[in-house]
Amino acid sequence: KYKIAVIGGGSSYTPELIDGFIKKAPELPVSDIYLEDIEQGKEKLEIVGALAERMVKKAGLDINIHLTLNQEEAISGADFVVSQFRVGGLDARIRDEKIPLKYGVIGQETTGPGGFAKALRTIPVIMNICKDIQRLAPSAWLINFTNPSGIITETVLNHTKVKAVGLCNVPVNMINYVAQVFEVEMERVYIEFAGLNHLVWGQKIYLDGEDVTEKLLDILITGKNFTMKNIPDLIWDKDLIKSLGMLPCPYHRYYYMSDKMLEEEIKEASSEGTRGEVVKNIEKELFKLYKNPSLDIKPPELEKRGGALYSYAACNLIDSIANNKKDIQTVNVRNNGTILDLPEDVAIETNCIIGKNGASPLTVGHVPAKIRGLMQAVKAYEQLTVEAGVKGDYYTALQALTIHPLVPSADVAKKILDDILRQNKEFLPQF
Ligand code: NAD
Ligand code: G6P
Ligand code: MN
Repeated sequence: KYKIAVIGGGSSYTPELIDGFIKKAPELPVSDIYLEDIEQGKEKLEIVGALAERMVKKAGLDINIHLTLNQEEAISGADFVVSQFRVGGLDARIRDEKIPLKYGVIGQETTGPGGFAKALRTIPVIMNICKDIQRLAPSAWLINFTNPSGIITETVLNHTKVKAVGLCNVPVNMINYVAQVFEVEMERVYIEFAGLNHLVWGQKIYLDGEDVTEKLLDILITGKNFTMKNIPDLIWDKDLIKSLGMLPCPYHRYYYMSDKMLEEEIKEASSEGTRGEVVKNIEKELFKLYKNPSLDIKPPELEKRGGALYSYAACNLIDSIANNKKDIQTVNVRNNGTILDLPEDVAIETNCIIGKNGASPLTVGHVPAKIRGLMQAVKAYEQLTVEAGVKGDYYTALQALTIHPLVPSADVAKKILDDILRQNKEFLPQF
């Protein structure tokens, strides 16, 4: 039986994860789940931990739920370490969203300068977690969900010896979207993915082995739109999709429709608030529900968050590693020549065979020029962000932001960087 450690256990997503382990219980025997958090998250941890206990009891399962503030205790001897923490909490996220907006740039928690700031805060913490994994659970798999997931996974792959796979719920939601369009089970859909986390394209879409890319794209622009709860569902330009000939991910709106998305963000910031501010309220409501001692299932209200199908992705991944299933899932791994247009030692989001040795990517080869440039530019930004986050080097950080496609100039990059460093001092020991 397996020991699971969840770093950031007080997250409102924890019932989602517990629900996943309950559903997987017949194939994936878990004896202990350690929900770990920090002092500031203690109250949330206790509420969500009590709900987790009620959920496993209701399911009639013999899983011990442990609540702890001790990282070593949680990690020690774990088989899987799931990371879902947020350094600085939602207040830091809200600052990440607002700083770029001051300078006329997209303010988003993972895309652009917001994601850059989140990476700088997260890198020292993930490095410390990896030190503990190497020491106390050297054979454990790190399943990283913490954003920016691609950048954090790349940091772990290149700067530690920990076995890690990066995860995002966007690819499974793209599969789910296609399945809904054609009114079929998700298992009948196959998407050839290529790209980076939150910058992944569905190059080809198959239904029962038949190429339905064109049919699907027609429906995307004339009928059923697709987004995630945290991204405004602006309609795609028809000619953009026709010329692209692939399924973009919802985050591509920030690049392909930067002007409209910026307008939308400015509008939202001055009405209901940034997404982080909205999430603060959703979270308050969720924890009110979680406190109810008669609640013993994952409440449907959790669907207001962007993490749809998170546990589906996480538990399938763990199941396939544990049971050496060798099925295909879309995760963040070391490129290793999979996408020939990117360096070998970077993290990419792509289809992989998942088994006891982890994730082995399926070849992609070269990607067409229309997506290559953006992919390479964002990857270069990500590589510099990893380096800046690890070394705490100001000039590397400045180059990272300067070359980001959403930042118009070095001058604006410098203003944003200085603002980020000033407002995040307590979370940036490396600078
Ligand atoms: P949250 O604000 O609820 O944070 C989760 C917990 O992390 C909190 O209880 C907090 O106290 C705790 N925490 C902070 N620093 C910690 C540390 N050093 N050690 C242990 N715990 C710590 O955040 P959330 O909205 O639940 O999201 C959690 C993380 O998951 C974020 O990084 C978010 O971006 C990410 N996420 C990723 C995806 C994806 O697709 N990969 C989807 C949704 C959320
Ligand atoms: C999506 C993304 C996540 C992101 C989340 C935000 O699902 O894949 O990486 O963090 O939504 O959701 P939230 O409810 O926090 O805005
Ligand atoms: Mn994601």
